[in-house]
Amino acid sequence: MIAETVDLAENLSADELAALQLERLQWTLRHAYTNVPVYRKKFDEAGVHPDDCRELSDLAKFPFTTKADLRDSYPFGMFAVPQDQVRRVHASSGTTGKPTVVGYTEDDLDVWANVVARSIHAAGGRPGHKVHVAYGYGLFTGGLGAHYGAEKLGCTVIPASGGMTARQVQLITDFKPEIIMITPSYMLTLLDEFERQGVDPRASSLKVGIFGAEPWTEQMRTEIEDRFAIDAVDIYGLSEVMGPGVAQECVETKDGLHIWEDHFYPEVIDPFTEEVQPAGSSGELLFTSLTKQALPIIRYRTRDLTRLLPGTARPAFRRMEKVTGRSDDLIILRGVNVFPTQIEEIVLRTPSLSPHFQLVRSTRGRLDHLTVRVEARPDATADARATAASAVAAGVKDGVGVSVSVEVVDPDTLERSVGKMRRVVDERA
Ligand code: DLL
Repeated sequence: MIAETVDLAENLSADELAALQLERLQWTLRHAYTNVPVYRKKFDEAGVHPDDCRELSDLAKFPFTTKADLRDSYPFGMFAVPQDQVRRVHASSGTTGKPTVVGYTEDDLDVWANVVARSIHAAGGRPGHKVHVAYGYGLFTGGLGAHYGAEKLGCTVIPASGGMTARQVQLITDFKPEIIMITPSYMLTLLDEFERQGVDPRASSLKVGIFGAEPWTEQMRTEIEDRFAIDAVDIYGLSEVMGPGVAQECVETKDGLHIWEDHFYPEVIDPFTEEVQPAGSSGELLFTSLTKQALPIIRYRTRDLTRLLPGTARPAFRRMEKVTGRSDDLIILRGVNVFPTQIEEIVLRTPSLSPHFQLVRSTRGRLDHLTVRVEARPDATADARATAASAVAAGVKDGVGVSVSVEVVDPDTLERSVGKMRRVVDERA
């Protein structure tokens, strides 16, 4: 039985949700304006006041928040409560400079555990299931976020964290979890290790994998589902907004991620004009927190590209389409936009190639060049490798519209992920 303290929000109607969102949004704007000087200054400069928010669409009048705002107020400058009310901090590493630091009150931690519990439930998890958490524990939100959500739902948590891959396989074999929470790229590393140990991954106890923290494609879903005989569903989140559990794909439909909109209000904008886009149009995703106390976040620019769609398995909540890329991952190659996920699709539909690939950027003469470096499957012959290389080059030329080189390398030669995968290697001078 699911504890009464878990709010699955399954009976919420669309009208109830909208009323709740408006009330919470008005509270959030006032809370931010009153307690965070950065927000007060931004609102004043934009000539808006929390009282100007009379309906949900009024949110569009308010200024955006970016990662730079958080960096500039490093470490705690955007916290809206006194430090003695902050129970925990997390930080996202970021590739350059200072990390962004986020904080949670006791109520925030409870909401977070609740939305993760709801996510695991939507993925098919139930009280009594064993959940193997292979997201990293620590400042990253993945491990602890998943952990407390699984406990809240009434599951038994196996806090494996990332790394020590041989031991992960042993734990899965011996403890027999039904559910695994892990990045899709690390799941591929586990797959190698199952095979190395001669353990059949399809015979494991796992029934469901909850994958997130990085983009992954439908082709990757098929690969993982087939190789492990599990259902693979998508979980989305980001530390600035909470951590994992902002949105979750339902196992019965696998058609994009329902956003837990009673806590996180989404908008999609055109990243160039910055105008709010109508439902169904693609653009950059923004989030405004509706209940967060320690770090209210207003119109946060996620840089993730997606679109909003109506709810299906959870009709009150809108869905976001699987995130196909971050504007940060975009490679502009001789004027053509290339996302790593586009290459992933092509690699995975090519026989003889494994899902392990890297994109290597270099310069040839004065031109930017891209090489797809991809591992062959162990049984691929030299002929098959050559055919595969041509097929990928042709697929990228036709599908993406740009010429790339393809290097098919031996199995087990590329770096393996233990968490978020680094797909792009920059070898430009
Ligand atoms: O990655 C939180 C998380 C942990 C989500 C575990 C899911 C599972 P950050 O480190 O702040 O937080 O990174 C957030 O990761 O803006 C996206 O670009 C990317 N991301 C997260 N989930 C997905 C997903 C965590 N399901 C950034 N699909 C986000 C695609 C994702 N990208």
